[in-house]
Amino acid sequence: MISDDLDQLKKTAATEAAQFIRNGMVVGLGTGSTAKHMIRALGEKVRAGMTLRGVPTSQETAALAKQAGIPLLEADNRWEIDVAIDGADQVDPQFNLIKGGGGALLKEKIVASSAKQFIVVVDHTKQVPILGGSFPLPIEVIPFGWGSTAREIESLTKSRVVLRERNGGPFLTEAGHFIVDVHLDRITQPGELETALNLIPGVVETGLFVGRTDVLIIGTPQGVRTVHAPRK
Ligand code: 5RP
Repeated sequence: MISDDLDQLKKTAATEAAQFIRNGMVVGLGTGSTAKHMIRALGEKVRAGMTLRGVPTSQETAALAKQAGIPLLEADNRWEIDVAIDGADQVDPQFNLIKGGGGALLKEKIVASSAKQFIVVVDHTKQVPILGGSFPLPIEVIPFGWGSTAREIESLTKSRVVLRERNGGPFLTEAGHFIVDVHLDRITQPGELETALNLIPGVVETGLFVGRTDVLIIGTPQGVRTVHAPRK
């Protein structure tokens, strides 16, 4: 399937996700090419008279939301987020995710965990029987001593750890941290792995989103599928 077709699937699924938003809601706005479609769909709702406010998970998303006419809450607000909508890089049958392909995982996790409902939107190619393999796990780390942190991650996971780069230097997150991508074959116990990684000094956050998804919306060539997670 060529990428234009995949983008169309993302768009259809993201437009469906926007239908979950009601007048007056505070909406967590994810980051990435799927989230971009959702933001545009919400912008149309605002133009049609809906009142809503957004909490962006990146500067890129903030700029898109402003363009779309969505009013934003300040970063230092004590938000009451009704629904957060975001994309993902991989999703397993239990709705656990790998996120962070775009490097926004820290804000994305803060916003998802502050929301009463977390809706994840993907195209069907993101569904995997088990996390890992085709997509490395992003981990946000403190630049100070990042090499030692990476070594500890390597010895925990027995996997290759690669510093993410951009323009010939380390990729910097919006919080000023580095990202290392961990090439794990199969993540059989994502919850345990997330906990163990978060105990390593220097790890700020991981791209594992375990047990957080409430609704999964999948764009497939046969149409959009919406699946609700079993009650937590
Ligand atoms: C950014 C993310 C994105 O949600 C993830 O990379 C999916 O991106 P896209 O919707 O462009 O496929 O986690 O940090």
